[in-house]
Amino acid sequence: MIHFALSKGRLAKESAVLLKSCGVDTSVLEQDTRELVLKSRDGKYGFFLVKPSDVPTYVEAGVADLGIVGKDTLLEEEKDLYEMLDLRLGECKLCIAGDPTRKDALTNPHLRVATKYVNTAKRVFAERGEEIEVIALHGSIELAPVTGLADLIFDVVQTGSTLKANGLAVLEEVYTGITARLVVNKVSLKTQAAEILPLIDKLREVVG
Ligand code: PRP
Repeated sequence: MIHFALSKGRLAKESAVLLKSCGVDTSVLEQDTRELVLKSRDGKYGFFLVKPSDVPTYVEAGVADLGIVGKDTLLEEEKDLYEMLDLRLGECKLCIAGDPTRKDALTNPHLRVATKYVNTAKRVFAERGEEIEVIALHGSIELAPVTGLADLIFDVVQTGSTLKANGLAVLEEVYTGITARLVVNKVSLKTQAAEILPLIDKLREVVG
């Protein structure tokens, strides 16, 4: 049996649709359930539904053979696994954003930056030679500059509607082409090659 770690949330539906189009029996993913371990009805696949940031952990450990997760999470988690394929789902950008009338905030020597991507933010600002205070949050990041908790945010922007609704704007696009990726456990790729390689080929064919 091949085990998948799938991201709950934004990518969940699109991932299931993509796998289905590649012949994976995903009907079990369509049911409304709080169960976190699901087995395909044909018995070939197991699905673990986890928080996006936990997908690389399950795949690195080999508990899951395969995972579908955003490039943003891979940049942040830096796990030891193979990133096999760009699935071209959920495209977004990792940006520095803030109050557009306060672009000077970027030059503030004591920047407070709110983010879910603590490691990536530290790396990005260090490469620019800027020391920042990272304010680690788990969601609703846009609230931080609005309330004065932070000067800027470092976050994913997809439609831009959350920024706009909160009077914020992109100040700098740091990483574009942030999409969902297929990741594979290094050992599984060898030991389960007969099942995994044809599936990767099929996915490659479908995503083009
Ligand atoms: C993400 C991100 C932004 C929003 C961007 O949050 O942190 O808040 O999506 O999307 P948009 O550009 O289409 O508005 P998410 O919705 O995943 O929820 P969260 O606030 O709980 O992290």
